[in-house]
Formats: sequence, structure tokens, C-alpha cells
Amino acid sequence: MDQASNLRNIIKNNQVHYNKNNVRLITVTSGKGGVGKSNVSVNLAINFRRQGKRVVIFDADFGLANIEIIFGIAPKYTMYDMIYNNMSITDILTPAPFGIEFISGGSGIQELVSLSKTQLNYMISKLYDLDCLADIIIIDTGAGISDTVLDFVTASNEVLLITTPEPTSITDAYSTLKAMKNRGGSSKDKKINLLVNKASGEDEGLEIYKKLNKVTERFLDIKLNNIGYLPYDKTLEKAVIEQKPVTMLFPKSNISRAFEKLADNLLGNEDFSEAKPSGISNLFSNILKMKKSK
Ligand SMILES: Nc1ncnc2c1ncn2[C@@H]1O[C@H](COP(=O)(O)OP(=O)(O)O)[C@@H](O)[C@H]1O
Ligand SMILES: [Mg+2]
Repeated sequence: MDQASNLRNIIKNNQVHYNKNNVRLITVTSGKGGVGKSNVSVNLAINFRRQGKRVVIFDADFGLANIEIIFGIAPKYTMYDMIYNNMSITDILTPAPFGIEFISGGSGIQELVSLSKTQLNYMISKLYDLDCLADIIIIDTGAGISDTVLDFVTASNEVLLITTPEPTSITDAYSTLKAMKNRGGSSKDKKINLLVNKASGEDEGLEIYKKLNKVTERFLDIKLNNIGYLPYDKTLEKAVIEQKPVTMLFPKSNISRAFEKLADNLLGNEDFSEAKPSGISNLFSNILKMKKSK
């Protein structure tokens, strides 16, 4: 028996011990690119891991492959291999520091959402294995303009929406929410956390939250949850250049402390689940339902 099928058997035998409803799935997104999604995904994963959670990051940003660059680790396989080379989800996991694992979407991401319903059902059964392995799955998406990203955002029940104080970033975040709403997503069936990155401080973060929430409540009937802010910090830029997560390289920097706080805020806010089915297999079931209703 090869190592992969060994692993699959271990997972199968353990499946009864885990309730897939307990897995928490956080979809990280933004209207505009370059606002910090991938760095947030990686540094949050590290802080969740420090608190004993089993974490998997799913890099769903087609073409940019951000997570592997921030970790400085090249994956052997991607989602493409799961779809076309009959690999399981555990075969395509890439190990990262602290016992975090990540999945590189690669070109498989676009394929995934354009699969036939039968194929998608088969993928959902494969993705179920991941829900049994992780406590938290973080999905790093591209900017919220493509159909694929909007599918992910609409189908998730917890979203971490990132904006910076720049007006274009705020209006693009609003446009993402509007597009999500047009696809049938609402803030009643999901929690939408707003994170203000590169803020000068708590006041500016709060001010931007209030501004955006006012218009989303009024025009989209969407209530945002203020999850906090991250400061602009040069150590993050340095860490990106060194291809190491900033919380590993500069654990005492302002931004590393802010990441700790952000992780605490998210973990303290457990009302997201309310026994709703979650996890990545559920996310794709939702995408399938959205396709059926089209
Ligand atoms: N809080 C911050 N302080 C300083 N620079 C930042 C901060 N957040 C993001 N950056 C800069 O923005 C770049 C893009 O971040 P990244 O996480 O790759 O964004 P995205 O995934 O949204 O495209 C980083 O490489 C870094 O230079
Ligand atoms: Mg990115």
C-alpha cells in the first residue's frame, strides 16, 4: 500500500470522530487586489495554529499562487491533480511551518467551478476529507471581480472582507458585496467581517467600518461585523521580500501583535456557526445549488 492510500485509510477510519459541522471556513476576499489578503491568510493561520487549531489554507487565487510565495515553499501538486490525476485531497496538501498545510488551487480553481454537476458532486465527496482533517479552513481568494471569487464568497457562511483606507478600495469592497447580493447572498445567512488593513490606527479603522456599513445597510441590507484593523507596517514588506511570514520573522512588530489580536477576535466570535453546516464540502454543495437554480 502506498503512503497516500495509507493516509486515506487513516482518514476514513477517523471520520466518525469528527463532525464536519465543527469545521470553520473563512473566505478571505476584497474588492481590489494587493490589499493584504494572502498575508492575512498566512498570518492568521499561524496564530490559529498557535492556539492549537488544525489549519489548512486553500489558495484559490488563480494564477498568482500567493500562499506558496509568502511561505517560500513550492507545492508538488495542485487542485488540478485532484481533478484530472485522480489524487485525493490529502495527496495535494503541502506542508508549511508549524504544522500548517496548504492547497494550491493552480489552474484547477477555474476548472473546479466549471465542472459538470456530476463531476462537482464527486469533488465534493473528495473535499469532505479535508473537513475531517481541519478545525479551520482559510480560503485566500483573488479580488472579488471574477465569477469564481463571487461563487466562493456567496457560498461561504463566513467572509473576511479586507479594505484599505483608500477610497477605491472601499468602493470596490462595496461592489463585491453588491455582486454577492445579486447572486442571492445576504448577511442573514452569513457573517461578513470587515477588516481595515494599512490603517493609521483604531480610529481610522472604525471610521471606515462605519462609513461602509452605513451604505451596505442602507442600499444592500447587509450588516457588516467590525473585526478590527491592521496597521501599515514596513516589517510586513520586508518579510514578503524574504519570503517568510511576518509573524515568524518579526514576532514582536506592531503588525504581528495586531495579527494576534485579529485571530483572538475571530476565535472569540464563535456565533458564526449556529450549527449551520460548514466546511469546504458544504461550500461546494452551495455552489452546486447555485448552479442548479440558474
Ligand atoms: N499592513 C501592511 N503594511 C505594509 N504593507 C502591506 C500591508 N498589507 C499589505 N502590504 C503590502 O501589500 C502587498 C500585497 O499584499 P498581499 O497580501 O499579497 O495582497 P493581496 O493578496 O490582497 O493581493 C504586500 O506584499 C505588502 O508589500
Ligand atoms: Mg493574494
